[in-house]
Amino acid sequence: QNNILTDDFGRHHSYLRISLTEKCNLRCTYCMPENGVPLTPKSHIMTAHEIFEIASTFVKHGVTKIRLTGGEPLVRKDFSEILKRLATLNVKLSITTNAVIVNRFIDDFKNYGLQDINVSLDSLQADKFTFITRRNQFKEAYNNIILLLEQGFNVKMNVVLIKGFNDDEIIDFIKFTKHLPIAIRFIEFMPFDGNNWNKEKLVTQAEILEQTHAHFGADPVISLKNEANFTSRNYQIEGYKGTFGIISSVSNPFCDSCNRIRLTANGNIKNCLFSNQETNLLKAYRHGENIEPLIANLIQKKYAVRAGMTDFETLNNPENHNNNRSMITIGG
Ligand code: GTP
Ligand code: 5AD
Ligand code: SF4
Repeated sequence: QNNILTDDFGRHHSYLRISLTEKCNLRCTYCMPENGVPLTPKSHIMTAHEIFEIASTFVKHGVTKIRLTGGEPLVRKDFSEILKRLATLNVKLSITTNAVIVNRFIDDFKNYGLQDINVSLDSLQADKFTFITRRNQFKEAYNNIILLLEQGFNVKMNVVLIKGFNDDEIIDFIKFTKHLPIAIRFIEFMPFDGNNWNKEKLVTQAEILEQTHAHFGADPVISLKNEANFTSRNYQIEGYKGTFGIISSVSNPFCDSCNRIRLTANGNIKNCLFSNQETNLLKAYRHGENIEPLIANLIQKKYAVRAGMTDFETLNNPENHNNNRSMITIGG
């Protein structure tokens, strides 16, 4: 391959996810262990300048979309500065946030052309929100999601489903799309270090569709065309303003068309969400080395499916979860 972002399976990685920080203002149980994770010392976290420079190298080789993640990206003190710099690159900018402090950044988003905002909200009920996030900020998150819609942003809402916890809200979430132009995405709960995953907690794509059909009947559930390099398979209830989708990383992976490469806050590139294969670009950058061969090398090592966990049984084996990071330091 002569493009450093194209892997051995012909997948071109044009979508860079940059985690800006390991910190978060919430404490979601599925994302981080109870006692948190050891934080990387600040001196080993990318500065705004380093983020820009490393991102520029990716853009030079064909990245056209950058998503900012965390932890919670908006808790980063120099967020506005980072956004301002990235806005000078010729890419589509997007962010994934828990929405709790989004209201402070509306002007920045508008000034720097960030229109696509994915928010995480796992329950429409305040008490359940508090239970899962270990924080009491449902109102802030919810009101900010409405604010984003009022302000005309393209909003997708991520809902991680956990059996017995919020699978009774699937229909409520879909009804939420009746009058609001929002894209709800139900996400199958995925295993990461320290998040107590097991298959009993999984709500599969098939179960979600079953519930949907049982409630609405099959006919009004319109199946939408798959987007290029999709993560979610999308649907719409006839006559509804919004849509809903399912991100089935566990029961039905979508790795064939994967175009995503990740850059962690401590400057590692990661070639798959489920892979512990990482290369530290930041160290090399600080030594004045050319980072391009490092990128090319890691992209070539990428597996066809989920870091080699092709079938469900392999993914289900706990021995295969602990060599990866905690989700909070990956950013999704
Ligand atoms: P769009 O750019 O709007 O399509 O969003 P996205 O789905 O790429 O990003 P988002 O941060 O909203 O992630 C939503 C869910 O999809 C999270 O649970 C992510 O972990 C998961 N996800 C995102 N990218 C990948 C991926 O490459 N592989 C897998 N398995 N899951 C992913
Ligand atoms: N399984 C599935 N999705 C997860 N997210 C965080 N942890 C998990 C997990 N274990 C989601 C968050 C956020 C997105 C970036 O990743 O809900 O919306
Ligand atoms: Fe890409 Fe890995 Fe996600 Fe599959 S699991 S879509 S290969 S990042």
